[in-house]
Amino acid sequence: MSLNAKTKYSGLAMLLHWLIAVLVIVQWRISEAAEEAATREAGGAIMANHFAIGVVIFLVVALRLVWRQMSPPPPPVPGHAPWERTFAKLVHFAFYALLLVMPIAGWIALSSFGEPINVWGLFQLPALPVPQNPDLGEQIFELHGASGIALLVLAALHALAALKHTIVDKDGTLFRMLPFGTSRS
Ligand code: HEM
Repeated sequence: MSLNAKTKYSGLAMLLHWLIAVLVIVQWRISEAAEEAATREAGGAIMANHFAIGVVIFLVVALRLVWRQMSPPPPPVPGHAPWERTFAKLVHFAFYALLLVMPIAGWIALSSFGEPINVWGLFQLPALPVPQNPDLGEQIFELHGASGIALLVLAALHALAALKHTIVDKDGTLFRMLPFGTSRS
């Protein structure tokens, strides 16, 4: 690869990547905290934050995807095997699909209880015009929870792969997503 070939994601892509990663972890911890809350009311108040952060995640991921079109990722690390590239692409695609579908599924589920989403009093997303059906809502929430576990498992695999490439193979993969350090090109 030539000396001046791009080997890192853009600064905005890095910022959005780490923001999404933090928001996903916070979102998971909030849903766990709500389940362990002493009362239903306390759990509901905690979950209001989960719903609002879900809206934020959707908007940040949408922005990330628009920016990805304007500033495409750097070419793959040359040393990575073709199967690794394909697998990484599949995992990245699954991340974006889950990160967009999960908030929408949450909104549909809440709507089937007739509930709007209040984003910390800043603005409100009305309940979607879906039939009021709490049983269906519960089922969608179940799927939403299972998708969340899938997302966390993928995130763990993804982080382990990035660390393995960086520490064992010493190919600087992690530095493609960090503003410092060099990655092999
Ligand atoms: C919930 C947590 C995370 C999510 C949802 C996530 C998602 C993603 C996605 C979708 C991409 C592809 C970016 C693109 O091409 O548009 C990516 C790339 C990357 N992520 Fe993560 N990530 C997470 C956590 C982490 C962690 C913890 C690490 C490091 C330990 C990490 C390291 C990287 C690196 C190095 C890349 C660039 C890979 C390459 O060179 O192609 N990510 N991540």
